[in-house]
Amino acid sequence: MAFDIETFILDCQDALKSESPIPEIEKILKESLSEPSAVKEVLNPAPQASYSPLYVSDELTILHFIWAPKMTMPLHNHNMWAVVGVYEGREDHIFWRENPDGTLRAAGAASIAAGETLFMGEPAIHSVTNPTSLFTGGIHIYGGNFYQTPRNGWDTLSLEKRILDSETNQAIFDEENDILRLLAAEKSR
Ligand SMILES: [Fe+2]
Repeated sequence: MAFDIETFILDCQDALKSESPIPEIEKILKESLSEPSAVKEVLNPAPQASYSPLYVSDELTILHFIWAPKMTMPLHNHNMWAVVGVYEGREDHIFWRENPDGTLRAAGAASIAAGETLFMGEPAIHSVTNPTSLFTGGIHIYGGNFYQTPRNGWDTLSLEKRILDSETNQAIFDEENDILRLLAAEKSR
């Protein structure tokens, strides 16, 4: 069955009104990803690191993520629940917990490939790596307005907490695209 973005968004909006929105939304995402190539065909990913909105409201955000080969998105929180899924490639997640003194410790991991989904609760802190040499593509769904909700990031090396605004977030993706351009220029020499 072909993937249809409008139907997908409407189904997620309906699920939000149901008694158990999160399992419903995870089910919708998993069903949509059961034919990963159909999702890829519709989302038509460009060969660059990006995240772009498919739908944004105060209750729900649906984003299309494209992770560059070997790219890592450093530790961050969302301050809302999230259900994420992959249509191509693989996402390796490390989950982190804040100790009472504010320091962080790694507390778990998960890896999802095409067709698989993952739920994260509101307090979740994670980092994401695309371990493959190809682009990884996924759909990430959040239980709130991803762009308007204050979020934190943590420095990869020092694990120091900081504000993660949209400019800082975008800079991480821009840096990946700079690396891709340098690698392409190097190869063509
Ligand atoms: Fe995230």
